[in-house]
Amino acid sequence: MPTISVDSCTIALFGALGDLALRKLFPALYQLDRAGLLNPETRILALAREGGEAQQHLSSIEQHLCRHVPAGEVDAAVLQRFLARLSYLSMDFLEVDAYETLVDQVGGAQSLIAYFATPASVYGGICANLARVGLAERTRVVLEKPIGHDLESSRAVNDAVAEYFPESRVYRIDHYLGKETVQNLIALRFANSLFETQWNQNFISHVEITVAEKVGIEGRWGYFDQAGQLRDMIQNHLLQLLCLIAMDPPSDLSANSIRDEKVKVLKALAPITAEQLGRQVVRGQYVAGSSDGKAVPGYLEEENSNTQSDTETFVALRADIRNWRWAGVPFYLRTGKRMPQKLSQIVIHFKEPPHYIFAPEQRQLIGNKLIIRLQPDEGIALQVMTKDQGLDKGMHLRSGPLQLNFSDTYRSARIPDAYERLLLEVMRGNQNLFVRKDEIEHAWEWCDQLIAGWKRLGDAPKPYPAGTWGPMGAVALITRDGRSWYGDL
Ligand code: BG6
Repeated sequence: MPTISVDSCTIALFGALGDLALRKLFPALYQLDRAGLLNPETRILALAREGGEAQQHLSSIEQHLCRHVPAGEVDAAVLQRFLARLSYLSMDFLEVDAYETLVDQVGGAQSLIAYFATPASVYGGICANLARVGLAERTRVVLEKPIGHDLESSRAVNDAVAEYFPESRVYRIDHYLGKETVQNLIALRFANSLFETQWNQNFISHVEITVAEKVGIEGRWGYFDQAGQLRDMIQNHLLQLLCLIAMDPPSDLSANSIRDEKVKVLKALAPITAEQLGRQVVRGQYVAGSSDGKAVPGYLEEENSNTQSDTETFVALRADIRNWRWAGVPFYLRTGKRMPQKLSQIVIHFKEPPHYIFAPEQRQLIGNKLIIRLQPDEGIALQVMTKDQGLDKGMHLRSGPLQLNFSDTYRSARIPDAYERLLLEVMRGNQNLFVRKDEIEHAWEWCDQLIAGWKRLGDAPKPYPAGTWGPMGAVALITRDGRSWYGDL
């Protein structure tokens, strides 16, 4: 039985027939219902432009739900209960009259959660209409990424929303913040003095953050080509991970204390000038190759592609943080599509002991590593040095993990999807896991200067075959500093 109680509300999903809603949001709400975390009075309004029979759209939502929830987790009674909460309303989001029906559906006193799974260009219009029909006062708005494609456009979106909603009722999604292991970073760092005393430039030599995807563009060419990997992944997910690793301990767990510390990190990121780009940043674009032994097309041969694009599908870079804690500790970030495997992990490399007394040929083994695996196989491992067992082994060293594998340790408990956690936190009014306006803007500012540098230099992405770890330059980026990417090379 759940140990937390959640108030009732109406959840209005704008863009309810879109990919995100069908693949992630309805399944997440279903799982919350299954876990007893949806108040019995909570209702869900599926809102989309499409007209026609409401029942047909509801059936389509149900079909997608059953496809995206693992078969063993579809419980007939829960499904029945969940579907009874749902209704469909066809509306033009920019047409104020349509909101009168919404008011009737929301009813008297309930608070409203308005989830915008739509292009950001209509966020302002939806907010204005919610305000016009008198719903704004009792509404929390949830904004999906991407919020703009640079600092200026993200400010325009945020300002349009801020005209009607105070920051305390705006929930900006970065779904990485809802992942179980990402939240564990906070527990790991601030509930264990063991790590926090070592968490600085005296003990850490460098940090790696890898977010690799095996898939390519998957029918999203139009959107992706406007964005590219820097905007799609680094500006949000990887910089958020970097902030959680690098931030100072907050004074409490409140949303603003955590966000204040993250903002300090973003402000301390050293700009990468056009002159430094060649050494510090590598852009790549996949060409035809193979994935799981099957031939796959290159980025420029994907469905709906154009053959001229110089959009990057891979970025590796070295970021430096200018403060006392991290001076001289590079953060190597790497993310790409069509990599050999799906892997998101952070590796903290600790420095070697100050004086080395073991066999010289074993020296490259030395140096503890803390490996935080977000996906797959969520878990945390600390690579420590011990001695090989056996009379004949002398003082032969071996590096082995002290392991905490969440999927094994909590075998009976399923690891919830990030969206389940995030939707739950919106219902509870907790903004810890959501991104504040100034975080987004500082992240854009840093990324904008990289993009401007690329433009100035006319830097074209380097090709890499699908199914590999990116262009050779990504290896050079780290080996130049006398290091290598952990594990995969
Ligand atoms: C999204 C990006 O934010 O994150 C996608 O827009 C990417 O391009 C996805 O595929 C990756 O998320 P996850 O949770 O599968 O690592």
